[in-house]
Amino acid sequence: MLNKQQVMALLKSIIDPTLNKTLLETNGVREIQADKTSDHVRLKIAIGKINSPEERKIEEEIINKLKRVGFVSVAIHFEQFSAEELAKLQANKNEPSSLLDGYLNTKFISIASGKGGVGKSTVTVNIAVALARLGKRVGIVDADIYGFSVPDMMGITERPTLKGNRIIPVEAHGVQIISMGFFVEDNEPVIWRGPRLGKMLRSFFVEVDWGDLDYLLLDLPPGTGDMALSVHQMIPSSKEIIVTTPHPTAAFVASRAGKMALDTNHEVIGVVENMAYFESQLTGEKEYVFGQGGGEALTKELNTPLLAQIPLSQPSPYPNQHGSVYPEAHPIGQIYQDIAEYLLTVEF
Ligand SMILES: Nc1ncnc2c1ncn2[C@@H]1O[C@H](COP(=O)(O)OP(=O)(O)OP(=O)(O)O)[C@@H](O)[C@H]1O
Ligand SMILES: [Mg+2]
Repeated sequence: MLNKQQVMALLKSIIDPTLNKTLLETNGVREIQADKTSDHVRLKIAIGKINSPEERKIEEEIINKLKRVGFVSVAIHFEQFSAEELAKLQANKNEPSSLLDGYLNTKFISIASGKGGVGKSTVTVNIAVALARLGKRVGIVDADIYGFSVPDMMGITERPTLKGNRIIPVEAHGVQIISMGFFVEDNEPVIWRGPRLGKMLRSFFVEVDWGDLDYLLLDLPPGTGDMALSVHQMIPSSKEIIVTTPHPTAAFVASRAGKMALDTNHEVIGVVENMAYFESQLTGEKEYVFGQGGGEALTKELNTPLLAQIPLSQPSPYPNQHGSVYPEAHPIGQIYQDIAEYLLTVEF
């Protein structure tokens, strides 16, 4: 089973409705008794108002989350915050989380995958460019701090500039971009651990002058490991698109990414099946080189629509001419335009 830190990771995004703050912000998780050998967990949680409908709501949410990851029994003892603690917590109740200051009208879309190399970054940049072609103001946060690739895919060679102490993102194909790649020398590997990583990600939101954006897309780290989990927890609540290849095993792995999204307060709005087939230019025949049915299986598992099946094809017959951006007239460019049109209809 999960250890204490992993249980804490699941609990910290739960909101105490009377205080309108997460349990992380209220420091409400007072005790966790859990260990790897047992499927029981005991918790002591302090909240704004005990014996209330709000308590029952939190209780239900905690039990659901913990049962979903395999705990058989969950015992929760709720405690009331003292009057003094409550006064402190309520003093800054209406202060918005600073990470989101200035993002009032921005819609967050994150792109995730169960494993690497399925085309997550390709899908991110092409959806961003497609939204920009529809006249939207779009930004990309390359949140894959270790595995950044967005600048290269967009053919960017310049670095961001500073305006006062604010970072101005780099614009390419009508999209504003910020990436760890701008801050390392000569494609050196990033060897940072947790706290610095969190600080970097945070500065992508609070120190970057994005201007007014309609959409901010986040290219997440692949998979469901520590990195993906921490980034999911650090970023604002978003609508999430899961990218998979058509192989049933790939989709099986991707469904875990979908569940991680749900556990960290993101909403899955669709699946993109990438590298779905190869179409012969000579005969028009489709060959399902990576298998078939994975995308559809995943949509059933996550109860979400299949946004597109994207075939195998390079953006240009001339390598590096467009980076990884498909021109609008390219058949795959058209598929991305359709996805973008669909996103305009999604309510945030
Ligand atoms: N539909 C496609 N047809 C042909 N090549 C593709 C397609 N989609 C992606 N690729 C190529 O596959 C490779 C992997 O794609 P990409 O880097 O977007 O995947 P990723 O999921 O972001 O990978 P990582 O896990 O490394 O971040 C790239 O070289 C990309 O150009
Ligand atoms: Mg990538």
